[in-house]
Amino acid sequence: MKIATDSRTLERIEADAVIVPLLEGCQEPRFGAGALLEAGEITGKPFEWTLLHQPAGIAAKRVLLAGAGKAEKFDAAEMRKLAGAALRHLKSKSCRNIAMILEDGWATGEAVSAAVEGAVLGDYEPDRYKSGDNKEKHEVESFTVIAQQQGEDFGQAAARGRILAEAQNFTRALVNEPANRLTPAKIAGAARQLAAEQGLACDVLDQNRMQALGMGALLGVAQGSAEPPALIVLGYRPEKATGKTHLGLVGKGVTFDTGGISIKPADGMEKMKYDMAGGAAMLGVMRALAQLKPSIAVSAFIPCVENMPGSRAQRPGDIVTAMSGKTVEVINTDAEGRLILADALTYARKQGCTHLVDAATLTGAIVIALGHYRVGLFANDDGMRDRVLQASEIEGERMWPMPLDEDYKDYLKSPFADLPNIGGRWGGAVTAAMFLKEFAEDTPWVHLDIAGTAWLDDGKPYLAKGASGVPVRTLVRLAATWKD
Ligand code: BES
Ligand code: MN
Ligand code: ZN
Repeated sequence: MKIATDSRTLERIEADAVIVPLLEGCQEPRFGAGALLEAGEITGKPFEWTLLHQPAGIAAKRVLLAGAGKAEKFDAAEMRKLAGAALRHLKSKSCRNIAMILEDGWATGEAVSAAVEGAVLGDYEPDRYKSGDNKEKHEVESFTVIAQQQGEDFGQAAARGRILAEAQNFTRALVNEPANRLTPAKIAGAARQLAAEQGLACDVLDQNRMQALGMGALLGVAQGSAEPPALIVLGYRPEKATGKTHLGLVGKGVTFDTGGISIKPADGMEKMKYDMAGGAAMLGVMRALAQLKPSIAVSAFIPCVENMPGSRAQRPGDIVTAMSGKTVEVINTDAEGRLILADALTYARKQGCTHLVDAATLTGAIVIALGHYRVGLFANDDGMRDRVLQASEIEGERMWPMPLDEDYKDYLKSPFADLPNIGGRWGGAVTAAMFLKEFAEDTPWVHLDIAGTAWLDDGKPYLAKGASGVPVRTLVRLAATWKD
């Protein structure tokens, strides 16, 4: 899809359709829609569409009056959603060249960027493996943001929006891949290719190197599968760093989670291909950072394994020694994410990361606690927590702070090892995070449990079903706006 900005007046824009956002309560009759307004058929409610054909005095073939909701609620996040939903609506009507106008009060760089993001995100379809008539037939050729330049460089804002959304779509496409086609080795291959194309450093640790480093927790999970594990490390280094921060991004990369010997029920198991969404998010973040070039050092660490119940699989009761030296009693082989993340966190610390963020589809319990709308956020440091929360708020990737009081450690007691890999019945998302905290040690760290938010069962008006690409934008913003 071609992205452009245009500062000419609306009348002169040639397009199959121009999207015109309309706030609730707006009574101004335009494009000959006075009668519709008067009849109450246009209210401006979110995602209400009124498609006008051949509007008088306008070069475009159609105008789409797009309900934008209440003025006081309208922000960049709403703009992103509105652009995405409107594009998907017009795409289903075979419009190929689409424009969107941001009128006087709306035209800011942030809004231009958000509109482009919405369009690029809305355009993505997970139809790679559909053929013939099953494939999405309609294709959008161009998306143009019409806005009168007012000091800000809108071309640059649009470019930034495209970088962000394409990075997020890169993540979504990886997450939507099935586990037979995206093994740990294949993710490593994708990471190497990404690094080569974008000028990032890349190192993939194989089984032998992990053994030499003593990554017993990660290797214990991997041993049940015929697919060898991989620990992907990507590095972005600024030309001139402004501070001493080295941000480490750790993402869970379980290409398929059967549960292992503690096997999961068959119902819905096909969805466990998205258990690498945290890892895929970190690849997307690195892709965007390579293009945006912020002045902070960032490394990504993505432990990739397949959790299978093969004949060499680890058993409940096995005791493994993590790279940090801590021993873990594996009570439940389905609590595998925290085991691979434990070693990846330790490795990230050893590599000199001063701050850490991990993202993982870690627990069903977070879905019970927060549902599908907010990411569970855990932190051992208030400053880090606030940085991530603030970035997420602006990006419309909503999160919610969860507790990590020392009391919860009472739930993590093993008679035989330093730690069990699960707590009891209560606070499952918290005990999982408490387990990780043992390996983040004294490094400022945030853990994002994205089990409820990385996958959309039903899709949204502005996003296709399947992978959501959360929390790519938040983490790009965190790094890109970092101040020491
Ligand atoms: N990958 C799952 C968590 C998950 C659940 C992700 C639902 C997405 C949707 C994780 O590895 C897991 O199996 N967690 C267990 C932990 C339990 C054994 C303590 C869970 O949540 O049931
Ligand atoms: Mn599991
Ligand atoms: Zn898992």
